[in-house]
Amino acid sequence: MAPGDASQSVRREIAGASIADLAHAHGTPLYVYDAEIIRQRCRDLAAWDTIRFAQKACSNLAVLDLVRRAGVVVDAVSAGEIHRALAAGYPAHAPVAAASATDLPPAHPIVYTADIFDRDSLDAVARLGLHVNCGSADMLEQLAERVPGAAVTLRVNPGFGHGHSQKTNTGGEGSKHGIWHEEIPEVLRRAEWAGLSVSGLHMHIGSGADLAHLAEVAGSLERVAHEIGRSLTTISAGGGLPVPYKPEEVRADLGGYFTLWDATRKRLEDRFGHRIRLEIEPGRYLTAEAGFVVTEIRAVKRQGGRKYLLVDAGFNTLARPVLYGSYHPMSLCPAGDSPTACEEVAVGGPLCESGDIFTQADGGFVTTRPLPAAAVGDLLVIEIAGAYGFVMASNYNSKPLPAEVLVDGGHGRLVRARQSVADLVRGETV
Ligand code: LLP
Repeated sequence: MAPGDASQSVRREIAGASIADLAHAHGTPLYVYDAEIIRQRCRDLAAWDTIRFAQKACSNLAVLDLVRRAGVVVDAVSAGEIHRALAAGYPAHAPVAAASATDLPPAHPIVYTADIFDRDSLDAVARLGLHVNCGSADMLEQLAERVPGAAVTLRVNPGFGHGHSQKTNTGGEGSKHGIWHEEIPEVLRRAEWAGLSVSGLHMHIGSGADLAHLAEVAGSLERVAHEIGRSLTTISAGGGLPVPYKPEEVRADLGGYFTLWDATRKRLEDRFGHRIRLEIEPGRYLTAEAGFVVTEIRAVKRQGGRKYLLVDAGFNTLARPVLYGSYHPMSLCPAGDSPTACEEVAVGGPLCESGDIFTQADGGFVTTRPLPAAAVGDLLVIEIAGAYGFVMASNYNSKPLPAEVLVDGGHGRLVRARQSVADLVRGETV
């Protein structure tokens, strides 16, 4: 954006729906999702046999229903996410198909993926007979006791990892995730002893790494696949596909990434003499760019030489900036007609904590952003907030969770009501 070009930072619509009308109808702060962007992101990955949505990124039932209709299956990391998947219409099991060596094995509609079973999730998995992706060997015996003879996926930590922040790096010694790659022979013995078979292999090294790093996983997975052998019918590249948050960031070369994985799969098919299903498990890629936080500017003030816009959303609404120093594009939806030239501003929220700043770098340093001159009552839109946005929102400072709206065909539909203050104290007693 050219310095001072205010028009490029102005947004009045999301997917054809007026932002001012949405804010008027549903209040602020408000999460708004563009259904067509989510569908497009699903189509972008159509080359893969299975797209498994990591619903932790955005688990509203309407979003799950939307991706289900787009042919996408889900991952669940808790009993709560299993419940969401069922409520959104996912069956526990794939329809039984006649199997031959030329057919792909069916995809599990829901896979429970975690490093532990808490007691609720083990109960749900056992009751529904869900497929499990095990991130620790202890899960094997715990599952075998409840579901004798089950087939499982192993999540392997290949000994290296990458992520947009140390907190989202899920491989290497610094990560608690997955079964350590050198332990595989021992874990296979434990699985056999417990009477389980290993049908799937999965690696996820982190979120928001670049594709060059993600590509290293394919070689590592292939080596582990050889150790597991012919029982394998599914391999998963995990999630972690990056999206461009900053203007200078480019879209990932998904075609090249698929080709690499497809070649890995084909070599394994040749070796094992049967088909292998190739899965990818994106969270962020499917929903990040579809999501917007609509906030209202409630104060404009100067602290010495720095100007602040204070909005009614805080890190209780969108935690990524305070947690990871994440950058989110912002635009202004002014109440009036013509925005004036851009100026550098810091943007903060309402919480009683100085870290409640949307314009911050890793380490908590307050930065600024060029935005058109704004006034109290204007709306500010925080963009690319559809992944790890609402799902990581909290009730800190006793703020109700915001409402969520899905815009489709130019029409905004409320898909989660704003919490009330009564909701805030539900279950509490004096
Ligand atoms: N599969 C597994 C096993 C995962 O743990 C995750 C993310 C994904 C798939 C999806 O990753 P994605 O495609 O969305 O990068 N709160 C952080 C991200 C945490 C990711 C946790 N696991 C953030 O806001 O960036």
